[in-house]
Amino acid sequence: MKRLKAPPSMRATSLLATLVGLLLGTVLGLAPPEAAAQEEGHAHDPTNIWTISRGGQLYDKWWEVIEAAPPKETHPAYPAAGKKKGSATWRCKECHGWDYKGVEGAYGKGSHYTGLKGVRGVADIDPGRIHQIIMDKTHAFTPAMMPHSAMEKLALFLSLGQVDMDKYIDRATRKARGDRRRGAAFFQNICAVCHGFNGKAINFKDEKKPEYIGTVAQENPWETLHKIRFGQPGVGMVALSVLSIQDQVDILAYTQTLPAK
Ligand code: HEC
Ligand code: HEC
Repeated sequence: MKRLKAPPSMRATSLLATLVGLLLGTVLGLAPPEAAAQEEGHAHDPTNIWTISRGGQLYDKWWEVIEAAPPKETHPAYPAAGKKKGSATWRCKECHGWDYKGVEGAYGKGSHYTGLKGVRGVADIDPGRIHQIIMDKTHAFTPAMMPHSAMEKLALFLSLGQVDMDKYIDRATRKARGDRRRGAAFFQNICAVCHGFNGKAINFKDEKKPEYIGTVAQENPWETLHKIRFGQPGVGMVALSVLSIQDQVDILAYTQTLPAK
């Protein structure tokens, strides 16, 4: 699959900024910038909404966000009933679902079935408690694999950022309960800049079996809603968690009308 990373110029700029900062710090006798102790791309003066978006991306594919190598072996807690192996089994979404409902949600059947429970039960609980769960024996996440700063973001997302997707997507028909016309305005002004007006400017798969926004939105509306809200890990895509949930669902409703092939 084709991967679009942040343009090298952007990375070079931030590297330059860090170097200049370090140099200035030395000249002026200041402490090194705080950002050095954080994952790459950490916001200056981060807001809760940004932190939650970042947590949502970590839930999707944490190693892309922190620019680490994915584990190669299958996760020790991945059940024998599941069909996946290797790094895929380390994604939070692989065991707990795009709708956060595990076996009680869309992953209750099909090629992503694991039989595991979801994470809806930790909504609104103390993020510190969720941080502990991520580090428990079952999960086997060590700070060497994932920095604490990333675990904190995941915990904040799970406590304050997840929603009950069944309220917004009809499970049986997969149709978003949104206003397509309202969604079109957001799509044309924001998403189309990169994905084109028909969503076909970026093909997520290949020529033989193309996959566009329209394809994903129709087949997996839960994944699409998650990505509309928090962005796509490891690439320069916007996160629209700053909008209301109804705005986000309206966008989803419009993307379901875009061509799937
Ligand atoms: C390989 C499968 C697997 C992966 C990957 C995984 N988990 Fe879990 N998770 C589990 C199992 C198993 C439990 C315990 C379920 C139970 O108690 O029945 C669990 C439980 C949880 C719970 C507690 C849910 C509750 O209501 O008690 C949270 C929160 C959680 N996981 C978060 C995460 C996060 C965040 C990630 C990604 C960083 C993650 N998990 C990745 C298997 C996984
Ligand atoms: C700044 C550019 C940009 C904007 C704006 C943008 N995206 Fe993306 N989007 C990307 C890139 C790059 C990818 C990754 C493509 C890849 O992996 O091949 C992506 C991936 C996705 C995916 C993931 C598909 C998959 O299966 O992995 C979805 C869904 C998506 N975008 C929907 C949207 C929607 C809806 C909007 C508007 C709310 C939007 N994007 C706005 C750049 C953008």
